[in-house]
Amino acid sequence: MAQDLDGVREHYAAAGLLDRLRAALGTLGPEDRPMSPAQLGAIDQFHTRGHAATADLAELARIGPDDRVLDLGCGIGGPARLLAEARGCRVTGVDLSPGFVEAARYLSMRTGQLARVEFLCASALALPLADASFDVVLLQHVAMNIEDRPRLYREIRRLLAPGGRFATYDVVRGLGEPLYPAPWARDARDSFLLDPQATREAVESAGLRVAAWRDDTPMAREWAAQLKAAAAAAPSKPAGPGLGVVMGPQFPVLAGNHARNLLEGRVGVLMAVFEAT
Ligand SMILES: C[S@@+](CC[C@H](N)C(=O)[O-])C[C@H]1O[C@@H](n2cnc3c(N)ncnc32)[C@H](O)[C@@H]1O
Repeated sequence: MAQDLDGVREHYAAAGLLDRLRAALGTLGPEDRPMSPAQLGAIDQFHTRGHAATADLAELARIGPDDRVLDLGCGIGGPARLLAEARGCRVTGVDLSPGFVEAARYLSMRTGQLARVEFLCASALALPLADASFDVVLLQHVAMNIEDRPRLYREIRRLLAPGGRFATYDVVRGLGEPLYPAPWARDARDSFLLDPQATREAVESAGLRVAAWRDDTPMAREWAAQLKAAAAAAPSKPAGPGLGVVMGPQFPVLAGNHARNLLEGRVGVLMAVFEAT
């Protein structure tokens, strides 16, 4: 039976997101002043280790200016903007959430990048995109919401041109049950973690072979420990605009559970690049 995506859609529904973004960015400068992707880094990188992880993944996947890049589950477009600026490539972002796609377009207008990045709303499991139309497909912190991994990875393989690369950076199953709500799911019903080996087997079954493999868990734990220490040192410090703008007032609870899941070994983080065979 096909996965019912309603729970995932609801989790990332983002009601009123555009208004919250306008208000938050108003603290950084007027609407008509161009912004750099780096200025948005605290808001628009919705994954462990933020900007640094996107930059590492781009390096591991050797993304260059001639690459046509697809960012699947692009969120509000932060990784797409960062890649377009840092690597000079064109990026298409796809996300299930209409609110996120709308926000991605708005933020890319604010950074003046609409000529290099574009966004559309669709499910990663049924993409309205032509076969072999991308050189790189990126998937950052999305697979954990997707039950039918064989179908996901077949769809990614379908979109890759000969010699294309699939770059993935995702939360993987650890040695215990994750605590919820987590940043990607309110409860276990919308969470479909695989361990690293099972992830590799599922990707390889789709006709892709491993080109680079990195257990990112130690770096993720260090990042989580630093966030926890910073929160403990200044519990009432007014945080600047952050992911709470996107996910709402419950975000500190989600982030706190993510840090605990990492530090207690309940989840890990995998960064890997595969090549089309
Ligand atoms: C944790 S966010 C990561 C966003 C982005 N990749 C980033 O790193 O900033 C997960 C994203 O995956 C999207 N997503 C989840 N399931 C999806 C699906 N089946 N198809 C497309 N997008 C999906 C969500 O809407 C959400 O934007």
